[in-house]
Amino acid sequence: MNEKIKTAKIRIKTDSDKYIINKNIYGHFAEHLGRCIYDGIFVGKGSPIPNRDGIRTDIVEALRKIKIPVLRWPGGCFADEYHWKDGIGPLEKRAKMINTHWGGVVEDNSFGTHEFFRLCELLDTEPYICGNVGSGTVREMSEWIEYMNFDGESPMANLRRQNGREKAWGLKYFGIGNENWGCGGRMRAEYYADLYRHYATYVRDYGNYSLFRIAAGPRGSNYHWTEVLMREAGDFMDGLGLHYYTRIGDKVVVKKAADGNEIYLRDESASRGSATEFGEKEWFGIMKASWFTEELVVNHSAIMDKYDPDKKVALIVDEWGTWYDNEPGTNPGFLYQQNTMRDAVSAAISLNIFNNHCDRVRMANIAQTVNVLQAMILTQGEKMLCTPTYHVFDLFAPHQDSRLLPADIDVENYTYLGEELPGLSVSASKNKDGNIFLTIANPDPSNSIELFVEIRPGVVKKVGGSIVTSGNMQDFNDFDYPDKIRVRKFDTARPGAGGVTATIPPMSIISLSCVI
Ligand code: AHR
Repeated sequence: MNEKIKTAKIRIKTDSDKYIINKNIYGHFAEHLGRCIYDGIFVGKGSPIPNRDGIRTDIVEALRKIKIPVLRWPGGCFADEYHWKDGIGPLEKRAKMINTHWGGVVEDNSFGTHEFFRLCELLDTEPYICGNVGSGTVREMSEWIEYMNFDGESPMANLRRQNGREKAWGLKYFGIGNENWGCGGRMRAEYYADLYRHYATYVRDYGNYSLFRIAAGPRGSNYHWTEVLMREAGDFMDGLGLHYYTRIGDKVVVKKAADGNEIYLRDESASRGSATEFGEKEWFGIMKASWFTEELVVNHSAIMDKYDPDKKVALIVDEWGTWYDNEPGTNPGFLYQQNTMRDAVSAAISLNIFNNHCDRVRMANIAQTVNVLQAMILTQGEKMLCTPTYHVFDLFAPHQDSRLLPADIDVENYTYLGEELPGLSVSASKNKDGNIFLTIANPDPSNSIELFVEIRPGVVKKVGGSIVTSGNMQDFNDFDYPDKIRVRKFDTARPGAGGVTATIPPMSIISLSCVI
């Protein structure tokens, strides 16, 4: 196809900076699923792979580089099957269980509470733990918090000391269950709202450690769930989750009951397509599904606004990302998939959406950190690589805790077989020195864009840039070519009268750092 050069204009008002882009939007998620924890992050102290306390040092280094602010654990669906006491104390005494949800493998509990906090310490990241409502008890959940957060004399605090940890960790982010409309107990919203209130009461604040309580949120467009949760339990929560996976080809039957509740049934034989073998039809499908995130955020936020006009309750998108068929030859319960330029552009669209709605979206956790779904890192024995999605997180990192500047965009749409999508995805922020940072994704795989960014008031003195792109939409990093796609210098942007000019190549993500 002949390349067509489109033109676009973005207007940024540097004095319109009401909201902060919470750094936790750049959060991550690590579940006891497939090779995320075991044979991924955690290789055990005796492993020949370099590690600290069993945690891979190369993974720690890579994740520290992108400044991951918060890490959710231990699930996911696993959270509602997890009994935390099985994962503490001497290793040889820890109970073994079957991870029934994910591949039916033996979980030996060698990675438990202490190991998770050690991981967060090494990563310099805030822990976010998800508790068990589905198959646990109020007492079990309450004792876990006492174990982690109480510094005085008590049965759980003493048990922690017996296991080698004197001082309480002071956990902040705590989730009361996961997907309780599905794998977390197939509950109706009304039932879960009551259970939420009940469980949330007994997870106590100890001393100065005040918990940030997060209710399990809806799946995608289940607006009934948000309505009921906000109405019945909104006063008792700090955050409400939202799970949305960017998928195509999914066959889901949604049965809607008269009271508004929904039951989801998925046709397990339906293919979600290959992660690496696709054409523009599937590329476009993923872009469209990525943009749908905005509709979800807007609609759930509108319901939240009704019950919480002061926006006290954060919308926490604690699971998001692309989901394809597992790589051929891998355990289908392990959700291992490759990661191409398509995933990089999709991640950029979602992150720009979260930034642009940071008045309500104050945390997001991409699924998942290592070897599962839209991973940052893939490992093979002692080898590891950073995926294109990792490089997008690297590129976007300067937005963390900066002030959002709304971006007004004029651009021709990206069209495919008569369907249209926005031609650019953009977000902009201002850091504490007053400099402006923009992230721009061009989802069109064939056409570049001549862009003018108007930046007022102020004069752009200098502009620097970075880019993530590749020659083909199916390109990915593999263990033989781990650096095919990475952040490279983008040095063609120029400061001009009233702003910056740049040419945005097809299927690329660029960042512009403007010194004012
Ligand atoms: O991320 C994989 C799974 O997707 C999680 O365990 C679950 O919460 C969701 O359905």
